Amino acid sequence: MSKVKALFATALLLLAVVETKAWDYDIVISTENTSLVYSANKGGDLRFSHYGAKIAPDEVGPLHGIWAGMNRVAYPTYGSEFNVLTSLQVVHADGNTTTFLALKDVATYPASDGEITVITLRDRHYPFEVKLNYHARKATDIIEMWAEITNLEKKPVTLKRMDSGFLPVRRGDVWLTHLHGAWTAETQITSEPLRPGVKSIRNLDGARNGQGDHAEVMLSLDGAPQENVGRVIGAALCWSGNYELRIDTENDFCHNLMAGISTEMSEYRLEPKATFTTPRLAVTYSTEGMSGVSRNFHRWARAGQMHGGSTPRDILLNSWEGVYLDVEETKMNEMMRDFAALGGELFVMDDGWFGDKYPRDKDNSSLGDWVVNRRKLPHGVEGLIEAAKKNGIKFGIWIEPECTNTLSELYEKHPDWVLRAENRDLRLTRGGTQLLLDLSNPEVQDFVFSVVDDLMTKYPDIAYIKWDANTGANNIASPYLSRDKQLQVNIEYHKGLEKALQRIRTKYPHLVMQACGGGGGRVNYGTMPYFDEVWVSDNTDALQRIYMQWGTSLFYPSMAMAQHVSASPNHQTGRRIPMKFRFDVAMSGRLGMEMQPSTMTESEKSFARRAIADYKQVRDIVQFGDIYRLISPYADRGVASLMYVTPEKDRALFFAYKILHYRYQPIPRFSMAGLDADKTYRINELSIPEGKSPSYLHGVKVKGSMLMNVGIEVPLGDEYASRVYELVEVK
Ligand code: DGJ
Repeated sequence: MSKVKALFATALLLLAVVETKAWDYDIVISTENTSLVYSANKGGDLRFSHYGAKIAPDEVGPLHGIWAGMNRVAYPTYGSEFNVLTSLQVVHADGNTTTFLALKDVATYPASDGEITVITLRDRHYPFEVKLNYHARKATDIIEMWAEITNLEKKPVTLKRMDSGFLPVRRGDVWLTHLHGAWTAETQITSEPLRPGVKSIRNLDGARNGQGDHAEVMLSLDGAPQENVGRVIGAALCWSGNYELRIDTENDFCHNLMAGISTEMSEYRLEPKATFTTPRLAVTYSTEGMSGVSRNFHRWARAGQMHGGSTPRDILLNSWEGVYLDVEETKMNEMMRDFAALGGELFVMDDGWFGDKYPRDKDNSSLGDWVVNRRKLPHGVEGLIEAAKKNGIKFGIWIEPECTNTLSELYEKHPDWVLRAENRDLRLTRGGTQLLLDLSNPEVQDFVFSVVDDLMTKYPDIAYIKWDANTGANNIASPYLSRDKQLQVNIEYHKGLEKALQRIRTKYPHLVMQACGGGGGRVNYGTMPYFDEVWVSDNTDALQRIYMQWGTSLFYPSMAMAQHVSASPNHQTGRRIPMKFRFDVAMSGRLGMEMQPSTMTESEKSFARRAIADYKQVRDIVQFGDIYRLISPYADRGVASLMYVTPEKDRALFFAYKILHYRYQPIPRFSMAGLDADKTYRINELSIPEGKSPSYLHGVKVKGSMLMNVGIEVPLGDEYASRVYELVEVK
């Protein structure tokens, strides 16, 4: 090729690369470190241009050439897009099944922690509008997106699909990480490369949605996921009901992430002038690996997406694994006394305290009859609260307000308050008698509110409520909803639940509430605005908890993760694990106990006292610090390790656990992360059993750069060895 020809070819190539497509609008939605960009022509389609690294508005124009292949329509609708999965499917009032949206206007409003951008789209023919909302939470790098769909037609329209968000991701070596599991084995992690085809992640329990697949995903953009390096997108659908997350890997440029309410036998009839608001989809982007995405979600949660995100959590004893349903006044009083002596701060009386005509002696009766059983508790809840006060601790109580049993006064009085399908036998769950109330019914919403309200009115000193839900929606039809609305029962249930919870939170903002769903069934950001914490799992085996807590921590902050030390052998697995290991695992989140303290030996008690005292000293680091996961239990290296660092990087807390044990086992070196390379830290070993010496690292002063770049050798000799090191800046 001649020089001239070569120059010409290069110029053409350059032109192709920098060619800019002119758009009337580039809508740049930015947080501190990220940007989401849409582009549109007046009266034309809204197109997705970019999500990821931050871009200044004046940098957008020249980049359009690169994005040409990526310009997917921002919210694909059935009929206007060909041969792709769509996010919005509508049957209009006249039966037309297609929707063609065009840009109407764009508005931006300041919000306390950032900005809300509202992009209004209108159908080209029908009076039908969709507002796409984006709340950019500047400081936490989270963008929440949701759609408001308004029917301005003369008759009802039917929403067949209404995703909260649609997000194309450029194809490459992209890996999906998601959580799944089952009762007593929740939040297992799976990471897999995205291949052509559709990956669907969904939950159809009806009532709880965190026990099987989870409504959160991470997409690692630089190959197999890493904890502290690499570009990662995180997404969490904030909805307590059935959902579906779809990732459609196209045959050309994109993986399309679509997330929304599940449409499995579910649709929504939208009346004229009515607006349907989808749940929020929260997305974030980090260049600091999966831990970076976790830190963004955690900060966002603590800043308002969960309840009580700025209040330190008490150390509690829950009565369940100590006495199960055998709740009885003397036992409760003894547990409170013994726990207070260990340094505990709050006692929670679990299931078994209620029922008059039908005493809750077994799990087959009484739900709904929220009156004290005087045989079990002669001095009532007030007597227990007095006893708690005498011991200097707070008092909490268990309820399951969304449920009833066929053996209950509530069911006898209101058989029409439960979900049930006409002409079908009731499908009964726990105890062979349990049923789910019909929360689409406003009377039932009032009742659920009153369960909490009555307790709090009678016993205003109740400091904590454990809100359980031990059944899914097995009878999925509502006696309350009209026949033409039966397909929206799954949605109405959760709207009803939300209404009841909102009333409770308005009236009782300081009450601490745990979301429990027969274990980890309620781990979802749809419920978190009303709850201070979640019960991670009914499995309290410390070894298995390392895996489950690791998974939960991908999206949920440690202060929200209830982690309890239980008996050995463990009640779920039969495994025998030393008390130190059990404590060290529980101390990495919201520490609690779940056993009968009277069965503990004197040396166990003395260790528990020391560990609880140590936890109090570092509680702020665990509960408010930034997580850095170091060695994953899933990495098959025989150990697991994580740490928390304060925002000022002046203190940190490091955990290491031995999870495999054999002769000549290579224990890796532990490289820390998140510290200030230039600061010097003193290592202070915590949680040391009486009579044992701390490891050689105790008292050593090391620079942050050494701890992160060279790492430390952690003595983990015995089976179930574990270490907890506090790091304090030496000034
Ligand atoms: C299931 C919960 O997960 C347990 O912790 C306990 O509260 C029981 N329900 C009580 O029935």
